[in-house]
Amino acid sequence: RGKNKLLEEVQASIPKNVSYIYIRQIETLGLGHAVLTARPVVGDNPFAVILADDLIDGQPGAMSQMIKTYNQRECSLVAVQDIPREETGSYGIVETKDSAQGNKKILNIIEKPHPHDAPSTLAAVGRYVLHPGIFDCLEGVQEGAGGEIQLTDAIAKLIETQPVHAFEFSGTRYDCGSKLGFLEASVAYGLKREGIGPQFHSYLRKMTK
Ligand code: G1P
Repeated sequence: RGKNKLLEEVQASIPKNVSYIYIRQIETLGLGHAVLTARPVVGDNPFAVILADDLIDGQPGAMSQMIKTYNQRECSLVAVQDIPREETGSYGIVETKDSAQGNKKILNIIEKPHPHDAPSTLAAVGRYVLHPGIFDCLEGVQEGAGGEIQLTDAIAKLIETQPVHAFEFSGTRYDCGSKLGFLEASVAYGLKREGIGPQFHSYLRKMTK
């Protein structure tokens, strides 16, 4: 059979000028360890980290907003979002200082603090643009929260030698690492999906009556 529409759609999602290189993280030693595993491929270049379970619906996309900002400021960026204080134990939490230019410089970042100890309610969500200096910081990081090598702890070291800014993206973030968040994202994307949105909408209405 000839190429079908679905296959074309999937193939079109990979731009022609992009090639993929996969590296497996053999042991589950944490996000910081995963990033360090990619060092041979990234080399001495700034790079992006995208955590797929944090889905962000933005126009333009959150990473596109961040790359534009990185090119203007040439400084590492951590995407952040204000969260309820009782949830600080699920995130890296940043303490920031506003500059005259309207930037938020990170003064401190702590992985999963108890709500009583959190310096703020600004949480890192899964988008980072990082200077390659982060790799040397990661090399020295010991097991942190949850017994894992934390990217957060390496960022805390990086800010000792160069500025890192918190970046408030525009867009809606879905926490697809939680069951409810995954369902919310599926519904939101389903409702606005060309071809099935209106039918899905009437289906949901029927279901929730
Ligand atoms: C990771 C990071 C954490 C960050 C979070 C965002 O945690 O370690 O700093 O706030 O992603 O989703 P995880 O969700 O993998 O526990």
